[in-house]
Amino acid sequence: VIHIRRDAGCEWLATELYELMEAQPDAVLGVATGSSPEAVYTRVTEKLLAHPLDVSGISAFALDEYVGIPNDHPESYHSFIDSHITVPWGLNPQRVHVPESAAGDDGIPVHTYDDAIAAAGGVDLQILGIGHNGHIGFNEPGTPFSRGTHVQQLTPRTREANARFFDGIDDVPRSSVTQGPATILRARRIVLLAYGASKAEAVAAAVEGPVTQEVPASVLQRHPNVTFVLDEGAASLLS
Ligand code: GLP
Repeated sequence: VIHIRRDAGCEWLATELYELMEAQPDAVLGVATGSSPEAVYTRVTEKLLAHPLDVSGISAFALDEYVGIPNDHPESYHSFIDSHITVPWGLNPQRVHVPESAAGDDGIPVHTYDDAIAAAGGVDLQILGIGHNGHIGFNEPGTPFSRGTHVQQLTPRTREANARFFDGIDDVPRSSVTQGPATILRARRIVLLAYGASKAEAVAAAVEGPVTQEVPASVLQRHPNVTFVLDEGAASLLS
């Protein structure tokens, strides 16, 4: 667990990402959406502008996506990944993947997403956020740890938390496609970002509580290389 100022945590992870892409030009990144990693992606953009790298061989796999809104919807995770990562970093769009409930023109359908990650060599560095109920990706409490990428109903709490991105709760999709706990655990290295006291309970349960499917992030205790990057608020309930 790294307990650090928010901007210092962003800088640390942005440097890790930049150095990984520099050292390994065919690296496979696992990228999350949400507000927590946004500033990290901006810093990577700044680093790439200041010191350009050949990123043509870098691949990225997104964690999750809503079901029921078009890929070009401004709040879709396709749009987020495109505008925060693919375009500003100059990645090859053919190597950037976001899960889909049904195969789009060039998309990977849900049931073959894990195969596509494996075929690319597996994820070298997976970035995660955490939901207030301990979800990672969109794996809500109760999701079996054995599940791969799948379609997942969203809980009312998750839909409420994400209503800020839409005109109102009614516009928030009711389900999603998400990498499963088993998919996430196959990444070679995982970094989870959490900020603010509203995440403290979920963080404490994930790090210090029992490993239980009721707290999806607790599965990370079974992974040998996980870093939690927390500000004071998010770390406040850790012993
Ligand atoms: C969403 C995403 C998650 C993300 C979580 C936390 O539900 N599906 O991948 O980790 O929200 O988001 P934030 O970082 O905005 O708090």
